[in-house]
Amino acid sequence: MSIVVIGSINIDFVTETKRFPKKGETVVGNSFNTFFGGKGSNQAVCASRLGSNVQFIGCVGKDTHGQEAITNLSNNNVGVKAINKVEGISTGVAQITIAEDDNSIITIKGANSKLTKNIIDQNSDIILRADLILLQLEIPLETVEYIIAFCHKNGISTVLNPAPAMKLSSDIIDKATYIIANETEYDLLFDGIYTDGLIKYPNKLIVTRGAKGADYFNGEEIVTIKAFDVDVIDTTGAGDSFAAAFCVGIDNGLTLSEAIIYGNKVASFTIQKLGAQTSMPYLKEVK
Ligand code: RIB
Repeated sequence: MSIVVIGSINIDFVTETKRFPKKGETVVGNSFNTFFGGKGSNQAVCASRLGSNVQFIGCVGKDTHGQEAITNLSNNNVGVKAINKVEGISTGVAQITIAEDDNSIITIKGANSKLTKNIIDQNSDIILRADLILLQLEIPLETVEYIIAFCHKNGISTVLNPAPAMKLSSDIIDKATYIIANETEYDLLFDGIYTDGLIKYPNKLIVTRGAKGADYFNGEEIVTIKAFDVDVIDTTGAGDSFAAAFCVGIDNGLTLSEAIIYGNKVASFTIQKLGAQTSMPYLKEVK
């Protein structure tokens, strides 16, 4: 059972404030913290804490943040041999504001933008040994397309979490084994009537809808799997923990709906504490 996460590594600078500032306005915030983040890194840490064997392919800068991020992944039992330290560019960062039960995020890609097809070729042996590849969109899109085409050709399952939201070719959607999109991402991928995209991709496309749960089409009807009712502290990383738990579930032989229930459950832990990775649970807590 092994999952390979190919994606981003960031350092998150997190400010908590009562309300989001308006354009041009200064507000006094409540707290500031620095956390390990990046959608790829968050998903790798979560899958590892849930008991999977996880390898990571990604890039950091040759700076203190980069080394700290690698050490953090390693401390979380994620394989880091395929993380490249790139000269002349900083490690990715994210500026996160938490307010009004929600968050807003600005990311600077930094070294994440240097994850090229060449690096994928150099690590094709790791990919070929994997049961499942988990991807997001904080690395170059052409690299994601290349990986999905490679995996499709070689019969390796892929889970694409199209975050942050962007338009994708139908080829990439067709070739991915599963797509996990939130409502914003889904709207950008399939504009038009809500159900159209779901119906087009039965048992493959999952739409996560926060407190409203997650939807998929089972070939006959749209099924909604309820979210767990918990108090929200910080939603950062909820989508990441859902995607990671879903992969762990599928990799352990759960059915699609069971894997979605597992995703919802793990995400419910993540939103009850501040930070993305800081709030991701270990298997024994989930049990
Ligand atoms: O999904 C949450 C993540 O998005 C944060 O950790 C931040 O780094 C951004 O990439």
